[in-house]
Amino acid sequence: MKLPNITILDEKDKRLHQKSEDVVFPLSKEDKQMIKDMIDYLTMSQIEEEREKYDLRAGMGLSAVQVGVMKRIFVIVEETEPEKFKNYIVINPKILSHSEEQIFVGEGEGCLSVNREVDGIVPRYARMTVKAQDMDGHPYEIRVREDISIAFQHEIDHLNGILFVDKIDPKNPYKNQKNMREI
Ligand code: NI
Repeated sequence: MKLPNITILDEKDKRLHQKSEDVVFPLSKEDKQMIKDMIDYLTMSQIEEEREKYDLRAGMGLSAVQVGVMKRIFVIVEETEPEKFKNYIVINPKILSHSEEQIFVGEGEGCLSVNREVDGIVPRYARMTVKAQDMDGHPYEIRVREDISIAFQHEIDHLNGILFVDKIDPKNPYKNQKNMREI
């Protein structure tokens, strides 16, 4: 595989703190290419050999804003079995419903735009139903749970200009841990 030519913005960039805009269909050629590039990048970052070859950080999700495009688009690449990947392309997402139950990533969340160690946890819904559109603009609904539910919430936050670090109280980074389930 060839490493796509994308630059991921760092948290200091003010675009990462701005709200992205709804996507109007049809997608442009550039937007389609960007989606493909983001998927390829994430896929390669999850393959050890490629990750080492190109000195990548492993990631499972990317939002358009992270490559400087202020549109409500994100992708998630899930390794379902060794070196087999499932892609999620999510455009104009809306959360229709979510569980009462909250969960958190025990080792802490990561983000390809946050290049430092961060202490603390982020409360996330264990399950959600999300409405979105695919690359052709067709609406669909998807039910997500556990790590994929967390990834969706992390990326939807990006579309609203919020980073996971913004949700951690530095004075009490493990707040409410007892009320949530660790994954
Ligand atoms: Ni992120």
